[in-house]
Amino acid sequence: MARLNIESICKTYPNGANAVNGINLDVADGEFIVLVGPSGCGKSTLLRMIAGLEEITSGEVSIDGRIVNDVEPASRDIAMVFQNYALYPHMNVFDNMSYGLKNRKMPRAEIDRRVREVAQLLELEQLLERRPKQLSGGQRQRVAMGRAIVRSPKAFLFDEPLSNLDAKLRVQMRVEIRKLQRDLGTTSIYVTHDQVEAMTMADRLVVMNNGLAEQIGTPREVYQRPATLFVAGFIGSPAMNFAQATLAADRSSVDVGAGQLSLAAPSSAQPGAKLIAGFRPEHLKISEGDGPMKMHIELVEHLGTDTIIHGPLIGGDRDRVAMRMHGDLDFPPGSTLNVEVDPSAIHLFDPQTTHRID
Ligand SMILES: Nc1ncnc2c1ncn2[C@@H]1O[C@H](COP(=O)(O)OP(=O)(O)OP(=O)(O)O)[C@@H](O)[C@H]1O
Ligand SMILES: [Mg+2]
Repeated sequence: MARLNIESICKTYPNGANAVNGINLDVADGEFIVLVGPSGCGKSTLLRMIAGLEEITSGEVSIDGRIVNDVEPASRDIAMVFQNYALYPHMNVFDNMSYGLKNRKMPRAEIDRRVREVAQLLELEQLLERRPKQLSGGQRQRVAMGRAIVRSPKAFLFDEPLSNLDAKLRVQMRVEIRKLQRDLGTTSIYVTHDQVEAMTMADRLVVMNNGLAEQIGTPREVYQRPATLFVAGFIGSPAMNFAQATLAADRSSVDVGAGQLSLAAPSSAQPGAKLIAGFRPEHLKISEGDGPMKMHIELVEHLGTDTIIHGPLIGGDRDRVAMRMHGDLDFPPGSTLNVEVDPSAIHLFDPQTTHRID
């Protein structure tokens, strides 16, 4: 178990690519951090610098207060679990799990004890003699986890460890990994593309974009108060709806072309300011009365528990918006609905800085 401190860390690859552009992150002992962001934003590069697999261009990585920039990967006492598992194909499960311990010259009996203990924890006891190719994807993933756990490392780094698994197994493994991590109390950083994994697993989320951390916070903070337009659009599925907006003279409503939306509290922006208003699909609702806006129904998606309606707001910018309703509901495409937005669920952003405005 350990504290991890990442200070102003940057990575420029020899070809000139700036992959990470100054990230600060303090990870508490036992904390589970999830990194999310679009492909190429620098997630793997950041993990690899922490593990020592990639040289740090500038900035510092410390483990329990000790700077490890120049410490060899093997001496950092960090275990990394990859998407492709990276198991040795010619070794059985026992040997795959014990390989790192043998390299450390640990006594045979101690190795045996540790591997069997972790195999029991991961329900791999019956599979110790098998080769990786004789295992299912989920079992291989458990072996990769086991190999990390037997080392009792100070921290786990996970790079999309579940992305090769089918949807059902992902859900199962996601719960198992989180439970294991909690029981072991091992500080962890976990990279994923999966929104649900990010929201459900993280103590804190780091939303990355272009090598920077756009926002660091609990999943609920990030969802409920996205700090930038990018975060607002990236977290949440279907994505947040956006509309060009003009702040009214009294600053307590915005005009989005399709109608006037009341705000829960006056905005701090200047009267008449051009802003971007955002509202999530679940906060767009059918209006009991006449409604401030009309929505044209183009497409209806039935998810079983929820129904999602897509279409433009009449009189607004022509972009399509999404409305999410609980239940399996039927609406005829081509018809029109009176809609409104919950005033407490409207997010305003400055189109220049892209920052949130309260
Ligand atoms: N060895 C390398 N040499 C040069 N550029 C690299 C190298 N590795 C990665 N990059 C570049 O650095 C940037 C960040 O890459 P990185 O692999 O960290 O992204 P990522 O967020 O993990 O993406 P993904 O979600 O696709 O895995 C990308 O623009 C990538 O092309
Ligand atoms: Mg990656």
